[in-house]
Amino acid sequence: MLKPIVLSFFLLVITCNAAVQDFCVADLMGPEGPAGYSCKNPANVTVADFVFTGFRAAGNTTNIINAAVSPAFAAQFPGVNGLGLSIARLDLAPGGVVPMHTHPGASELLLVVQGTIVTGFISSANNVYVKKLVKGDVMVYPQGLLHFQINGGGRTAVAFASFSSPNPGLQITDFALFGNTLPSALVEKTTFLDDAQVKKLKAVLGGSG
Ligand SMILES: *[C@@H]1O[C@H](CO)[C@@H](O)[C@H](O)[C@H]1NC(C)=O
Ligand SMILES: *[C@@H]1O[C@H](CO)[C@@H](O)[C@H](O)[C@H]1NC(C)=O
Repeated sequence: MLKPIVLSFFLLVITCNAAVQDFCVADLMGPEGPAGYSCKNPANVTVADFVFTGFRAAGNTTNIINAAVSPAFAAQFPGVNGLGLSIARLDLAPGGVVPMHTHPGASELLLVVQGTIVTGFISSANNVYVKKLVKGDVMVYPQGLLHFQINGGGRTAVAFASFSSPNPGLQITDFALFGNTLPSALVEKTTFLDDAQVKKLKAVLGGSG
């Protein structure tokens, strides 16, 4: 009498386990929606989907900001799709800066592993929280708030940033304001800057109009 019950129990456990979805590795062939990518066929998933090796080398900091942000978001690191987290490497050459920016979709933790970084964020009430971080220090930036990172002096600084989303998004305020095609007259109105200043910033940041 007991045996069929025990058997049924084990069948139930096996069935339940089979129904658990352990992961949803991004199917990069499909579109990305608000909930992320759809899942790759589990039969096609390999360990490579769960490993990211793109941080071995420093990012290329030969650019206008002397800095490089190398993302390992779902698009670069399919294994994080659906898991509510991701990571990026930050390289700041001497004089480097990641200008004021936001991640609309995630809070961020920054861990400095080399050099010093002056960093902070501005709250919705326009309060400023700024600090010089050294190796080993961590700062958290609440979701959606404007923040920045500047090399604190001396040699190249390196940090890793983890995010509370596999797709945090990134909007750099300077590029949003001036690296666009919005007519200069409107940019002048919205920024309180004069025509010469707006034209100069549009030229530097790749805007037009
Ligand atoms: C991945 O799965 C599809 C079926 O969904 C199959 O046609 C394809 O051959 C698989 N690709 C690899 C690389 O295994
Ligand atoms: C870094 O970027 C600059 C500017 O795009 C480019 O000229 C240079 O070749 C790059 N260096 C490396 C090592 O890729």
